[in-house]
Amino acid sequence: MINKFINQHILDLKKYDPVDSDKKLAEEFGLKEKDIIRLNANENPYGPWAGIKDSFSKIKFNVYPDSNQDLLRESLSKYTGLDKNQIVAGSGADEMIECIFKIFCNKNDALIDVQPTFGMYSFLADSIGMKVVPFERDLDWTININKLKEEIDINSAKVIFLASPNNPTGNSLSNEDLEEILKMDILVVVDETYFEFYGSTAAEMIKDYENLIILRSFSKWAGIAGLRIGYMLANSEVIDNVFKVKQPYNINVVAEKAAILTLENRIGMQPNIEKILSGKKEFIEFVNNLDNVYAFSSDANFILCKFPKNGGKFIFNKLAREGIFVRSFSNENLKDCLRFTIGTAGQMKKVKEVLKATY
Ligand SMILES: Cc1ncc(COP(=O)(O)O)c(C=O)c1O
Repeated sequence: MINKFINQHILDLKKYDPVDSDKKLAEEFGLKEKDIIRLNANENPYGPWAGIKDSFSKIKFNVYPDSNQDLLRESLSKYTGLDKNQIVAGSGADEMIECIFKIFCNKNDALIDVQPTFGMYSFLADSIGMKVVPFERDLDWTININKLKEEIDINSAKVIFLASPNNPTGNSLSNEDLEEILKMDILVVVDETYFEFYGSTAAEMIKDYENLIILRSFSKWAGIAGLRIGYMLANSEVIDNVFKVKQPYNINVVAEKAAILTLENRIGMQPNIEKILSGKKEFIEFVNNLDNVYAFSSDANFILCKFPKNGGKFIFNKLAREGIFVRSFSNENLKDCLRFTIGTAGQMKKVKEVLKATY
């Protein structure tokens, strides 16, 4: 009965597929929660900067956070080199993606979904009844820019999201290729959620292209995925409009403090980022030495691997029985692929042991 009031495109919508909690995984696979190794959400296994927790006792929990995000945006301005009025923070990059849909997109507008990529773009487009136009990457996951431009034209597309580095493939887009797309009549969102593992950015192009929006996150490099904080860089007119549509108190006081402290102490985060990067290099070498397994190179903190011999599902289950959870996929173009977040040296040793015993 209530269904008659619910929008048809919401009734048709499939739920977003998030990572399961440790509790759920433990129950499902008959494991103890403490034995679970999470390599399925690209989290930082080392956690946040060590001083963060001590700072929480001084936070006034009874007071609303600053809806204008003044201190946080000043801090982000120093970090990014952009003006404070070109920055706004959100409850994860996810909230910023949602704001983009609210500001720019309407039912039946076309979104180009450069697959495989982060699922939130097409999910949110579907949730407002947009037309999602799939565009397949080449076999090495690069993007054929000329074909893409044709697709944008044919569909008079409104928006394209380009994750760089891309999740789950790990490869990035060059600024030259990006510029080709920016010259078109389309809103271009470059999702730099994994920027700190890569180091290259398109931020300096914001001054030249009004249609460029950049997204960043504290979830991956900063070890505070649970606090939900990300941000947007764009020209000030876009930012003004985000301030109209975002929830006024979207960054809670704990997240705000944690983000500012992380930025102030980011040099202290660097050794853990270096450990992740060297763990990645070792793991790629290890995997590529196995018979009939392939690791794609990656600019992020995860690696996509292909297991044509035994199949992704077989390897997933083998790892899961040992308490190791990686990301599996149902997409046809990711057949037999699993995405491994780079964990601590101890965690990666366990992964290698399971793989070695199989190959
Ligand atoms: C490419 C990409 N963008 C955005 C997000 C979401 O980030 P956040 O935790 O800041 O919402 C993710 C998370 O996996 C991601 O991989």
